[in-house]
Amino acid sequence: MAFNHKNLIDIREYSSDDIMLILETAARFKEVNERRIKQVPTLKGTTIVNMFNEPSTRTRSSFEIAEKRLSANSLNFGGSSTSTVKGESLTDTVKTLCAYKIDLIVVRDKHAGVPRKIADTSGVGVIDAGDGRHQHPTQALLDLYSIWEAGRDFNGLNVGIVGDIANSRVCGSLVPALKTLGANVCLIAPPTLLPARPDVLGADEVSANLDATLPELDVVYMLRIQRERMEGAPYPSLREYNRLFGLTRDREHLMRDDALICHPGPINRGVELDSFMADHPKRSLILDQVYAGILVRMAAMYLLLGGSHDGVDA
Ligand code: CP
Repeated sequence: MAFNHKNLIDIREYSSDDIMLILETAARFKEVNERRIKQVPTLKGTTIVNMFNEPSTRTRSSFEIAEKRLSANSLNFGGSSTSTVKGESLTDTVKTLCAYKIDLIVVRDKHAGVPRKIADTSGVGVIDAGDGRHQHPTQALLDLYSIWEAGRDFNGLNVGIVGDIANSRVCGSLVPALKTLGANVCLIAPPTLLPARPDVLGADEVSANLDATLPELDVVYMLRIQRERMEGAPYPSLREYNRLFGLTRDREHLMRDDALICHPGPINRGVELDSFMADHPKRSLILDQVYAGILVRMAAMYLLLGGSHDGVDA
């Protein structure tokens, strides 16, 4: 199957075949990650820059591990330790990095649109590792991988995404990706945590009533309340938010027997998700999502740099 992408910036540019090829390639890389020596020479001789201008635990560490397992050379760069604090522009910074003949840039930034700008400036491939409130495509892919690996078929799957939709870049990628694969998506949030035009995301439904919606859902995807991106007080208190929109132990009886729980992390325990549900042995995919981060990022970097599905080991 042909994979004709140089960048992974906007998941809406990816077809269902593209997405499934990434998931199937990630499954091939799972086998590599279960060996005693978890490294293949696949990207030996390539140089990948990880430019993280905003904090990250999962995305940054899993990209770094994925690059090491593919034998790529990584340069970790960004934030307050660069010459941007002396006033150097983003364009000059990127031109400087490109003078080293790098092959790929992974970028996280608090401003939406920075990955596209870097792609236009640099001419090398770019992966968006989360830009502002815009997109987080590798997060969506690892979410899809986790659901798929748990044996679920996307066609007709009922997925509820609950919480801070307005500030969520995860939603910006996950909703269109789920729709591309044929799932039904319901956004569940107080009106103050919805974007002005929730229809733009492409979800099938919007609801402000978690209890009424839970019995319909195959996957309950909880979002973090992003206090760092909020202005004012969009809900009376965290306690009130937890009472109305938190996935608490006393809501489990409303869920289908086989309904799964996802969360992109980091979790505000006791706010959007209580520990009983976050650590639920049967339902929670949260640590599977973390592991899938390595597999999907290995697959994305490999395919973007020209690999074929058959050659993950070479
Ligand atoms: N889910 C996610 O992007 O987590 P980090 O901010 O820790 O990378």
